[in-house]
Amino acid sequence: MKRLTEFDQLADPTFSQAVIDWQRSHGRHTLPWQNTTDAYRIWLSEIMLQQTQVAAVLGYYARFLERFPTVQALAEAPSEDVMAHWSGLGYYTRARNLHACAKRVAQDYGGVFPSDPALLAELPGIGRSTAAAIAAFSSGARAAILDGNVKRVFARVFGIDQYPSEKRVEDALWRRADALLPEQGIESYTQGLMDLGATLCTRSRPDCGRCPLQARCVAYATGRTAELPIRKPKKATPEKRAALLVLIDRGQVLLEQRPGTGIWGGLMSLPEVDGHLAVDVDAVSSLEVATAAAQFGTVDEVQALRPLVHVFTHYKLHIAPWQVTLAARGSATGRHLWWDLHAIGEAPLPAPVKKLLQELGTPGLFG
Ligand code: ADE
Ligand code: SF4
Repeated sequence: MKRLTEFDQLADPTFSQAVIDWQRSHGRHTLPWQNTTDAYRIWLSEIMLQQTQVAAVLGYYARFLERFPTVQALAEAPSEDVMAHWSGLGYYTRARNLHACAKRVAQDYGGVFPSDPALLAELPGIGRSTAAAIAAFSSGARAAILDGNVKRVFARVFGIDQYPSEKRVEDALWRRADALLPEQGIESYTQGLMDLGATLCTRSRPDCGRCPLQARCVAYATGRTAELPIRKPKKATPEKRAALLVLIDRGQVLLEQRPGTGIWGGLMSLPEVDGHLAVDVDAVSSLEVATAAAQFGTVDEVQALRPLVHVFTHYKLHIAPWQVTLAARGSATGRHLWWDLHAIGEAPLPAPVKKLLQELGTPGLFG
């Protein structure tokens, strides 16, 4: 008698069939990156969707494609232009990798994305799951995705009560994902898993009543949908503080280029007091602000603005902005640039900083 391998044991063609049938009748079919096999458009959507929800991506996706209609156009664009079109989407490493990837595709592949998922996965910003999604949607390649949503669906359906973030557990999930791939209909299957995770099998309060996997779902059968997937206990989020200078002179504000890596890397921002992010805001006096601002010109007036809080993945940032009006500006050099306040919408700035500058002059800002 033939011994069953682990792969044989995990395989189950009725699983993919249930997902495919559901996707065709109840899944999403009109998203702007569907109904195309253009790998550029699919790649762009997958990168934007990596840490961001569909609703937030739609506008950015349309504007990005209008400005950069081909991978060649993106590869040739200046990086400030790319960053400006990403400004507000967050996770800016994605934008830097996106640009690097476009250049690689233009140089190494003549502007045509490879269709082999293994080659795609070697490009900047494309992991194994994203490579599989791009290959499946653009060329029907039979490759498995395993993003956060799919891990959640698998953990619930198969009753996996170990941390999916652990290497051993993740490897087992990949073997399962491979074994469950359908022979036909990879596009509907891949999209179906994404749609299930995003619309029914949501993190909180999954809509099991409409789920095509309900009859085979261990979490549903055992009343554990709220517990699975189990999550590592959260450490307290570290908090950091920064004082930012809003230097104003004749309707312009002084922007500073941030270093290429680290938070908001590649974007512009406002100069920081002491030039680093660990300043204790509460300890910064207006005198210190005026002293720090003096390198940019003759200080006329210093005024504290309403503080803001911005939450990153790994820490919480408390920002104390200080408006400094100059009587005369010094010469801006290198990493500094005076920018018209009325055109601040077009600056490659992180969302909270842009919002702060757009609200300048709005009543109630001084506090
Ligand atoms: N999230 C990641 N990829 C997606 C896709 N192709 N459609 C909808 N949501 C997604
Ligand atoms: Fe998720 Fe509920 Fe479907 Fe199970 S039955 S896969 S918990 S939506």
